[in-house]
Amino acid sequence: MEELFGCKTVQEVLIQEEQVPEKYFHKVEDGGVPVPDDSPPQLLDVPVIDLALLAASSITADEFEKFRSALDTLGCFQVINHGIAPEFLDEVREITKQFFALPVEDKKKYLRQGNDVQGYGNDVVYTEQQKLDWTDRLYLTVFPQDNRKLKRWPENPESFRRTLDQFATELDVVTKTVLKAMTRSLGLEHNCFSDPYGSMDIRFNFYPPCPRPDLVIGFKPHSDSSLITHVLQDKEVEGLQFLKGDEWFRAPIVPDALLIIVGDQVEMLSNGVFKGAVHKVVIHPDKERISVAAFCYAESYKIEPFERLVDESRPRLYRKMENYGDIFMENYQKGRRTIEEAKIYV
Ligand code: OGA
Ligand code: NI
Repeated sequence: MEELFGCKTVQEVLIQEEQVPEKYFHKVEDGGVPVPDDSPPQLLDVPVIDLALLAASSITADEFEKFRSALDTLGCFQVINHGIAPEFLDEVREITKQFFALPVEDKKKYLRQGNDVQGYGNDVVYTEQQKLDWTDRLYLTVFPQDNRKLKRWPENPESFRRTLDQFATELDVVTKTVLKAMTRSLGLEHNCFSDPYGSMDIRFNFYPPCPRPDLVIGFKPHSDSSLITHVLQDKEVEGLQFLKGDEWFRAPIVPDALLIIVGDQVEMLSNGVFKGAVHKVVIHPDKERISVAAFCYAESYKIEPFERLVDESRPRLYRKMENYGDIFMENYQKGRRTIEEAKIYV
């Protein structure tokens, strides 16, 4: 669908408007109000996986079971010993903060154009009724390298491009290790998940403080359209929450870890054995928060349940949908999960 209208960045709203505009308000009738601060949800016990052990196959049966159960119940886990230096993770956080701290006019050089997702700004607006997220973003494709749009890659801070390139390269290694371990945990062939893996996009998220945390949300509830997503969280400010059963839980901050979220593509490839995690971001009344999310995608024509996971006891749950990535954002903005469209009801 065509974009109806572009919207201001949240940073501009904060400068130009005296009050938070209505279109940021989420009322109960629109699917729920953010949880007020006086009843913060409980902390989620997210399993911490030592990636060096996982890769070396010297992992104990108990540890491997912990990994497997994170995949088929929670849909998220944290990895430590992932090979990316803690100081480097801090550098990635630092370039993120420095970029968003630039004056709006400087950032607008990298503005997203029309329906293109790459660049600075915020979401495409599809309908007049669409509720807006309280977040500004910079979204860039990093792999395959030919799809990089360098025009949208900031040159300020000076180290931005170099740091992003290195981060992407290091994350690519982590991704392949994790996808191979996932395959092993299902007793499948060596490269089941990493074969379809074909691209990576990185999104820098900036959540300014908001005077109405009771009505405004940083990122509406969603599951990611990826195979897996790596999230580098803010070191000090919480905000990410996960749905478990019908209750929300806060994601803990483990500063040197990467939080890995299972996406819809893995749920579909695994014929529902692994679960994509539903999550959202709440905002803070007086603290800003940053995060960096790296979405690792399969080539879409390859996404359908592995034959080996389809049998009489586990009938095929998802059909092949080649336009998955294209319709995902529009569905998200309308409060729908695209994976529901792929479901086969038997
Ligand atoms: C996302 C996301 C979480 C965060 O970008 O898809 O869920 O903590 N981000 O910002
Ligand atoms: Ni997400």
